[in-house]
Amino acid sequence: MADTDESSRGERKRGKTVHGEAANAGHRVLAPDDAEVEAYLETALKAPGPDRSPEDRPANADTEDRETVVVLDFGSQFAQLIARRVRELDVYSELLPHDTPMAELERRGTRAIILSGSPHSVYDQDAPRADPAIWSGKIPVLGICYGAQLMAHELGGDVIPFDRREYGPANVSITATDDPLFAGLDREQPVWMSHADSISRLPAGFSPTAQTDSTPYAGLVDASRNLYGIQFHPEVVHTPRGKDLLRNFVVGIAGVSPTWTAGNFIDTTVADIRERVDAHARAVGSDGLVICALSGGVDSAVAAALVHRAVGDRLTCIYVDHGLMRKKESELLRVTFERDLGMKLVMVDARERFLARLAGVEDPERKRKIIGDEFIRVFEEEAAKLGRIDFLTQGTLYPDVIESATSESKAAQKIKTHHNVGGLPADLRFQLIEPLRYLFKDEVRRVGLEMGLPEAMVMRQPFPGPGLAIRILGEVTSERLDTLRDADWIVIDEIKAAGLYRTLWQSFAILTPVRSVGVMGDGRTYANVVAIRAVTSEDGMTADWAKLPYDVLGKISSRIVNEVPGVNRVVYDISSKPPATIEWE
Ligand code: XMP
Repeated sequence: MADTDESSRGERKRGKTVHGEAANAGHRVLAPDDAEVEAYLETALKAPGPDRSPEDRPANADTEDRETVVVLDFGSQFAQLIARRVRELDVYSELLPHDTPMAELERRGTRAIILSGSPHSVYDQDAPRADPAIWSGKIPVLGICYGAQLMAHELGGDVIPFDRREYGPANVSITATDDPLFAGLDREQPVWMSHADSISRLPAGFSPTAQTDSTPYAGLVDASRNLYGIQFHPEVVHTPRGKDLLRNFVVGIAGVSPTWTAGNFIDTTVADIRERVDAHARAVGSDGLVICALSGGVDSAVAAALVHRAVGDRLTCIYVDHGLMRKKESELLRVTFERDLGMKLVMVDARERFLARLAGVEDPERKRKIIGDEFIRVFEEEAAKLGRIDFLTQGTLYPDVIESATSESKAAQKIKTHHNVGGLPADLRFQLIEPLRYLFKDEVRRVGLEMGLPEAMVMRQPFPGPGLAIRILGEVTSERLDTLRDADWIVIDEIKAAGLYRTLWQSFAILTPVRSVGVMGDGRTYANVVAIRAVTSEDGMTADWAKLPYDVLGKISSRIVNEVPGVNRVVYDISSKPPATIEWE
């Protein structure tokens, strides 16, 4: 047993919106707002789902010029985090299944291999294993937790169940004097442990490099074969020098050069998109037109900016102003894309249409359905005006791509490819451009900033596709939208002023259907109650209510009551998810 906190992993709804519906052809999870709006455009155009080949690699990432660090995924909840940490060292890293054959690793230009942790024990019947060829010494290997145990076990050492599970902070003493993995690190290091098995005997050729009070082999090495193992987790923030250790391995031991930067990514991606669109247009004799739905979220914004840099006016972006956005948001979008970036932007003022269809509707799910349906209609109308479109831009992120690369979906993929050969026309109407499919969210943000997108857009907290409609309990009217927009603006303003915006997953206001009695000046009021919601979360699946400082809450409350007409009371939502949800509807 290595990582212990695995229970939620298998239960997550992969590739679905948080509400369990297939998100954007079943391949989006992390950015519900972008995913939802993009999915509407996909539906409106009747575009096929993505057909990604496992060969798919970043532009120019052939074995000669992109050095890759592969993280072999044994099922740990931290596996993605390891890849992210490596990328923070400006080195491209990808997550591959634990049993990826050595030949494939070599073909991908793998310069170092990191073995993740796992909820399994090496003695389990179905314990995940690696291709034994990785132990040959050809490519440096770092085993983390289960990865280290597997290394010991496979090469002739012993791993035993530990008499007590070690979970949480620990102190590790580095005993090796010249191990390059620990170069520049103090002898005593605070680290994070999470394991139930332990290595009890090293294989021949290995020597110990580190220990804790309870683990004699917290570190092991066979330098002649380039094999390194550590029992603790360098990828989590609770191991403060973990990043240095990973750098020692990737840059120091494996000698990989740090060239995976936002600037390089932009250059190669832009060149790649241009080449692809040109080649397609030449082949089919079209103008090579590209379309993109903007939602106001960061993913679609960055994707559009990249495609625009590649193909200029051949890209048309469509933004549907449904009137349910927050204050100043639609304007920021217009200024950024149309004025500053000079993009062809179709900004559809559909505010009246949406309001008319939402009139009298109180049920949350009906609101969502109406909004989705109206989005699709608007997109259909607008796309019809554009003529032949060859490409659809999507802001799919790397985590979504990895999710769909599990073995089941690989099998499904094969079936699909097979059918394509048999029947479907080779020239499907649309091809997808997914310029962010190698990036994690934080990398998307870095690319966005590098491309000059405004911080307010790039760092924006998630915002639901149906917008403020699901934050107004009861009927959505233009008046109630104005009230909520003003209150929401104050929440964001004060949260930003307090320097808390980026520490929160979301922070916003809700307009409740409740009115309460108040007193203002000499008069009695009977007015709306506004609720404030602020949560911390990793991914929106679970969330904790944020312990906002009282003075921040106080300032928000008094500003709302004083500045927003029709509101005389503010309450703070102190429910976690579960059992509550983040949104109120
Ligand atoms: P809940 O309220 O389910 O929200 O805890 C989790 C995350 O999903 C967002 N959310 C939505 N996003 N369409 C969207 O695009 C929706 O209908 C929707 N409902 C909730 C919510 O803002 C939070 O980030």
